[in-house]
Amino acid sequence: MSSAQPETPAATEAVSPTFLSGIQPSGSPHLGNYFGAIRQHVASLEEPGEHFFFIADYHALTTIHDAHELRTNVRELAATYFALGMDPERAVFFRQSDVPEVTEITWLLSTVTGMGLLERAHSYKDKLANGIKPSVGLFTYPILMAADILAYDSTVVPVGKDQIQHIEMAQDMATHFNSRFGDVFVRPEPRLPARDDMAKVPGLDGQKMSKSYGNDLWIFEEGKKLKKAVGRIPTDSRAPEEPKDPDGVMLFEFLALFLDDEELGDWRARVAAGGEGAPGYGHLKVRLVEAIDAHFAPARARRAELLDDPAELDRILARGAERARERATAVRDRASKACGLR
Ligand code: ADP
Ligand code: TRP
Repeated sequence: MSSAQPETPAATEAVSPTFLSGIQPSGSPHLGNYFGAIRQHVASLEEPGEHFFFIADYHALTTIHDAHELRTNVRELAATYFALGMDPERAVFFRQSDVPEVTEITWLLSTVTGMGLLERAHSYKDKLANGIKPSVGLFTYPILMAADILAYDSTVVPVGKDQIQHIEMAQDMATHFNSRFGDVFVRPEPRLPARDDMAKVPGLDGQKMSKSYGNDLWIFEEGKKLKKAVGRIPTDSRAPEEPKDPDGVMLFEFLALFLDDEELGDWRARVAAGGEGAPGYGHLKVRLVEAIDAHFAPARARRAELLDDPAELDRILARGAERARERATAVRDRASKACGLR
């Protein structure tokens, strides 16, 4: 990051994109988080521009109220990112709570955000429908998320499908603020993974994979537990010989994430044809376990090494925080000046 801060958002936009995204450290990162988020975050490093990625620990406090668990999850998520290719030299990688300016921006945005906007949030409504008693923090979660995005003059926010509405809300908040106080915040745009199946990875029960549905598969699961998890993917009682439409076989949704087109096409054709020697669901499951294993084996070893040295992980996060604060402070100053606070 250059030390000369652009004075106006317009100046930032003209230069090059600023990528930003975050994931909550609310449990073990799963395949949905990998394909929908982490993989795209790592891939974006190949594109010119600035890159900000963070661990959303303030957001996780809306669900986790155990200090040890939160600290452990933060290191776990950092090690996961680094093992999967996030390069803290090329990206500003940090912990959300190390940048307190974000909570100040949250307050400024909350004063221009209508209750109605928040009441329409799908993720909030889903949580209510699931019987969760909402805290004020859960209700205002999208404002904190908007502040995360706007605090770094982000222009591109790579996420999975479920987060799109939150980014649209950030756009609305930026517009409301700017229309009252001038050209302060940059308008961010969401970016989904190029493949639709990666933007919404199914869970082991066929619904969207999510920690909160208990249908998720940890990225680094291995051995018996991995086999057992893959064993949960629903199948039916049709015999291998019976020809089947591969689009109706859920296992293919998972295999498509890991196999190359040629191999995938071959398995699909054999299932569609049926007859003697056609693969049964058991064969597909064995292949899926192997494919997951092979895909994550190198990262698994790297993750273990990183977790062996938590002090080094903390040092990397501290370096990221310093760089992130520099930007967030400039944006906080711009916003508070515009509304008459400084
Ligand atoms: P969860 O729903 O398990 O709590 P998060 O809300 O923490 O997951 O999501 C972190 C990131 O991972 C977000 O960018 C989100 O869009 C992405 N993500 C989560 N679940 C999936 C999924 N099933 N498919 C694709 N992306 C997902
Ligand atoms: N709400 C996001 C999730 O649950 C995490 C998040 C917090 C985020 N702040 C963000 C994502 C800013 C993108 C941009 O996954």
